[in-house]
Amino acid sequence: MRTHEDVDAFLTETLVGPDPEGEAALAAQHGAGLPAIEVAAVNAKFLHLLTRIAGARRVLEVGTLGGYSTIWFARAVGPSGRVVTIEAEPANADIARANLARAGVADRVEVRVGRGADVLPTLADEGPFDLVFIDADKESNELYLDWAARLGRIGTVVVLDNVVRGGEVADADTTDPKVQGARRGILMLGSDPRFDATALQTLDRKGWDGVAVAIVVDAVGRSTD
Ligand code: DHB
Ligand code: MG
Repeated sequence: MRTHEDVDAFLTETLVGPDPEGEAALAAQHGAGLPAIEVAAVNAKFLHLLTRIAGARRVLEVGTLGGYSTIWFARAVGPSGRVVTIEAEPANADIARANLARAGVADRVEVRVGRGADVLPTLADEGPFDLVFIDADKESNELYLDWAARLGRIGTVVVLDNVVRGGEVADADTTDPKVQGARRGILMLGSDPRFDATALQTLDRKGWDGVAVAIVVDAVGRSTD
């Protein structure tokens, strides 16, 4: 009987392949005691491909952790692109900067230290961002989605991580603040006219979770001219 871990290993080996810089980043951040809640390699590759498919040049990430997903975004935008990533914990930001430098992508990445609520309002001159990845404290999902729309443009891709949380998102009576945040994020994506969205359940190395993908639309729902 095969498990989803077997499938994850097979897909990672065949489609992501060897990634010495990414693996060194993970070794460094896990060694420093950061929790192993970074995106799975297959998910990082999904974000990387989405960035390239969108032709994104400017990426905004909320929630750097140790910079693993950041490395994949930086690779996707290339040497002339730009990634701004926000991290609330200064020690995490230091680890991320070292990981980004080791991966050879520090030239195009800016790690901003602070709470999203404080840093996001300072980024108006850095945008518009072509893709926004929200992967921070789940309680603030609505705030981050609002800023994603404000700092984006019509057509900006918005990705929200951890929207399924082992299925708990379907429980309207949940008392878990992270699940409540995931629910509010999904409800906002479904009701706020600035977004057109869907979400996919995922089963990877980290277990059963999911990712919402949205596009910023205009007043009549269009994402292109
Ligand atoms: C948690 C946060 C994440 O971003 C994630 O991918 C998995 C778990 C958490 O805080 O529990
Ligand atoms: Mg996450």
